Amino acid sequence: MSKIRKCLFPAAGYGTRFLPATKAIPKEMLPVLTKPLLQYGVEEAISAKIDTMAIVTGRGKRAIEDHFDISYELEHQIKGTSKEHYLTEIRKVITNCTFSYTRQIEMKGLGHAILSGETLIGNEPFAVILADDLCDNDGESVLSQMTKLYAKYRCSIVAVEEIPMEQTNKYGVVGGNAEDDNVLRVTDMVEKPDPKDAPSNLAIIGRYILTPDIFDIIRETKPGKGGEIQITDALLTQAKQGRVIAYKFKGKRFDCGSVDGFVKATNYFYNKEKK
Ligand code: UTP
Repeated sequence: MSKIRKCLFPAAGYGTRFLPATKAIPKEMLPVLTKPLLQYGVEEAISAKIDTMAIVTGRGKRAIEDHFDISYELEHQIKGTSKEHYLTEIRKVITNCTFSYTRQIEMKGLGHAILSGETLIGNEPFAVILADDLCDNDGESVLSQMTKLYAKYRCSIVAVEEIPMEQTNKYGVVGGNAEDDNVLRVTDMVEKPDPKDAPSNLAIIGRYILTPDIFDIIRETKPGKGGEIQITDALLTQAKQGRVIAYKFKGKRFDCGSVDGFVKATNYFYNKEKK
């Protein structure tokens, strides 16, 4: 199967860097301007012609389900008023795709969160968006660039970005050989390496295409950095078989999991909207 139909959104993390805001509100629901981070992610998936959204949540994340559902009371109140247009975008999202949910019972890391989504994905290649990495592009969205690449390579794909070498200890970092313009065949992957041990300065950001054999591999993957089950470690198994490519995407990306990145994203989208 070459078409990617489903997108998984791991959204079970605690978002501790945003406490106290994230005590009762999921990090993925924090708004940049008026739109929650997760809605930006869902709209990016839709732009890549994906219509099935699979969301991994946890305790205290019910606001996510309510957001992607019709609020009859609100609809009734606002219908026919001058404020109705505020609901246009979210209505479009709700009517154009389906949402399903599962819970990650224990927060054992991103690899484990992705494995928790197996029940919603089944046996087909799928996309993964980490909504706290907010991407924007005036042309084609990052995920759309990646799904096109999947049709050509038919293997797992990670989106990468060049970072200053001193920041490698914040990211999964890849090493590999050039395959095409902006495309590398990955031979090495390390989670949060010290700069001296990093295979390159190419950091994985929150966009992936994964082949479904990744689930069995994650099941066999032992906890790694920070005692968590890391998707980077599972992907290394595929990379050793030559089945992972890294793609230097076109576009902008903001790390909205950090206060700094969140403020930058807010300023960027505000200035863009004002134009
Ligand atoms: P982060 O590494 O940003 O962790 O997760 P976090 O817990 O959300 O935030 P901090 O570090 O405590 O501030 C990256 C993505 O993976 C999801 C998060 O929800 C986020 O979208 N995640 C992480 C899970 O779903 N489950 C986990 O066990 C870990």
